[in-house]
Amino acid sequence: MSSNDVAVKVEHLSKRYRIGLKEEMHDSIGSAMLSFFKSPLKNYRKYRSLYRFDDMDPNSEFDSAVNSDSILWALRDVSFEVNRGEVLGIIGNNGAGKSTLLKILSRITDPTSGRATIHGKVSSLLEVGTGFHPELTGRENIYLNGTVLGMRKSEVEARFDQIVDFSGVEKFLDTPVKRYSSGMKVRLAFAIPAHMEPEILIIDEVLAVGDAEFQKKCLAKMQDFTKGGRTILFVSHNMGAVIDLCPRSLLLQDGTLVSDGPSKDIVEEYLSKLFSPVDNQNLGSVSDRRGDGRLRFVAANLHSKNGKCTRVPISGHPIDIILDFFSKEDLSNVQFVLTVFNQRGVAVTNCHVKTMNRNFQIAKGSGRIICRINKLPLPLGNYKIAIAAYDGLRNELDGLSTACIFDVETSNFFGARYVPPMRYSTVLVDHTWELVK
Ligand SMILES: Nc1ncnc2c1ncn2[C@@H]1O[C@H](COP(=O)(O)OP(=O)(O)O)[C@@H](O)[C@H]1O
Ligand SMILES: [Mg+2]
Repeated sequence: MSSNDVAVKVEHLSKRYRIGLKEEMHDSIGSAMLSFFKSPLKNYRKYRSLYRFDDMDPNSEFDSAVNSDSILWALRDVSFEVNRGEVLGIIGNNGAGKSTLLKILSRITDPTSGRATIHGKVSSLLEVGTGFHPELTGRENIYLNGTVLGMRKSEVEARFDQIVDFSGVEKFLDTPVKRYSSGMKVRLAFAIPAHMEPEILIIDEVLAVGDAEFQKKCLAKMQDFTKGGRTILFVSHNMGAVIDLCPRSLLLQDGTLVSDGPSKDIVEEYLSKLFSPVDNQNLGSVSDRRGDGRLRFVAANLHSKNGKCTRVPISGHPIDIILDFFSKEDLSNVQFVLTVFNQRGVAVTNCHVKTMNRNFQIAKGSGRIICRINKLPLPLGNYKIAIAAYDGLRNELDGLSTACIFDVETSNFFGARYVPPMRYSTVLVDHTWELVK
């Protein structure tokens, strides 16, 4: 393969962050959509200075004040190549390093070590949120994004109608962006880089937000891109989209590249890891967990309405999720949260004591908390539950990404013999039909 065919070459890339700065990061850029066009250094600096990047200075490696406990490797020795015209999917758990990788490739942040070489003009859409100025109108924001990122006014003008058309915000062009719905913002944010005709398009998670219609439009637009030898790097939690769009994918886990191959295989590997078996009766011995350890979950069980332990709850029936824990000390204002994931890795629902305005005083020793669900709204399938506990200052006490795995094999949700096909439902909703004419 001649080197002319290579669009992106990543060699031994590593990126280190200082953990203490994480919260600040979320405040400054976490919620910001960063659309970034590779442009002369001057524009890049200008753009970069618009946001506060709390990255650690790569030179401070030799700073003795940095203690190794507070260091986190977001990427570790990652190497791969992408050929011109390839569409590469990048998947992995939250925190795996996907966004960090894309930020380095977009030259928004520097690697701590290693190298990323890019051949061609890049345009990226990074993180879901907004890089728009809320007080300015849609029209003004299109120009602002364009010019700040290095385009001439005439270049923005030439594409203006296409951008507006694609995003469907025509009626709201002269409305301040702060009045836009999140869907409108995402549509506009996708439309700008997508119409810049870059050679390499980098997309981070944008499909997580828009509605189904818009997602289709984005996928079609991306498909167009690949014609004519353009390259796409696509991060998504939508496994269906990854398989449809990307012949090849990378799987990142804790900052390392664990697999590289055909998307079908990589997605399967990712999903099987999500559902790695766990001994739900013996969570105390799980070492892969978060939190400071003042409280530890020791068991997670499901009880059906007769109080019997079950691993195959019935959809539509009541279910208790019972969490047993041990606390090393008295704790006040403790909050519990659990998330149910389906077999595609989609978080189906999140039950947090905060939604009941509750928190608990926990005495030293063993304890049990129960989350009661009156009518289990899950379609048939395979699920896992992730659990966590926090103290009153929001410090994580304990966190397990898999506390228990269960199957829903029987549905009595609608009380009818007909059960909606799984591929059309993620959650079941009580509803009625009425013929009014
Ligand atoms: N600016 C930052 N400062 C400190 N830690 C960060 C920063 N950005 C990301 N991280 C951490 O680096 C790890 C990888 O994050 P990220 O690349 O956003 O993962 P992903 O996109 O796969 O969810 C996470 O643990 C995250 O908390
Ligand atoms: Mg991310």
